[in-house]
Amino acid sequence: MSDKPWPHKDLLDVTDLTPSEALHILRTAEQFQEINARPIKKVPTLRGKSVVLFFAEDSTRTRLSFDVAGKRLSADTFSLSKSGSSMNKGETLKDTALTLQAMSPDIIVIRHSSSGAAAFLAQRLECSVVNAGDGWHAHPTQALLDAFTLYQQWGGNFAGKTVSIFGDIAHSRVARSNVMLLSRLGVNVRLFAPRTLLPAHVSTWPATVCHTLEEAAEGADALMCLRLQLERQQAGLLPDLREYATRFCLGQRHLAMAAPGAVIMHPGPINRGIEISSELADAPQSRILDQVAAGVATRMALLFIYGSRSSGPAET
Ligand code: CP
Repeated sequence: MSDKPWPHKDLLDVTDLTPSEALHILRTAEQFQEINARPIKKVPTLRGKSVVLFFAEDSTRTRLSFDVAGKRLSADTFSLSKSGSSMNKGETLKDTALTLQAMSPDIIVIRHSSSGAAAFLAQRLECSVVNAGDGWHAHPTQALLDAFTLYQQWGGNFAGKTVSIFGDIAHSRVARSNVMLLSRLGVNVRLFAPRTLLPAHVSTWPATVCHTLEEAAEGADALMCLRLQLERQQAGLLPDLREYATRFCLGQRHLAMAAPGAVIMHPGPINRGIEISSELADAPQSRILDQVAAGVATRMALLFIYGSRSSGPAET
């Protein structure tokens, strides 16, 4: 894998990747993680490369970790948000993208509220496009960093493990990308959500839909909790937040049902006391902040792989 040129111009979804390509990204992230533990956290690997962070939707973790990742590899990173840009004067996505392209970046990282926005840009731009979350569709870099967190937890062995995903699956691009990636890596994926928060075609997904929270938690190796995405929901999907929390909040008793050594994950941001109890979010078994650290290493790997694509690997 490492001897061949990377075959993809863009990263739009994890379904673009073969299992061996996904594992190559995780192994590359493992190498870069060592840099993050050094006193001087900077190498010249992507010196002279430029990365545009085009975030037309809010973000803390994804945006900052791409910025940190690029700077640690000595790339020049430039940010554009919807607020304060000419998108607020009515400039279209296409014209905004062509404007960015005219400044000759090597990679554009895009987050957008419309599913398909990253693919729309990728079809029109010469530079690499990395999807940092498009609508309800996909969040491939989150799935890769979640897989990297588990890769480290399980010593690289995914086969036969069980990951249970809980919460607002219907509105979650994180759930979609995680189901697709983890199942490709040999993980048994279980899903549990209130019926109104399950996607319409969930029976076609490579995952088992559980009928109770307890059934999903029982014997699982990782419990992954999702944020209740109120900003994407129509009215009437939930009775009220207090009832949701009473019936569906993941707590210590669910961890006690899981396999010995099971870990807790959440992509963030978290709603404490709604989908996950504070006690569980802060428990020793919680990997929520490890996921953030994994995000930097994984995005360093992605910027390296996609940034080296046209010119071959630069200095390491
Ligand atoms: N997990 C995630 O995408 O977080 P942000 O929205 O803060 O980037």
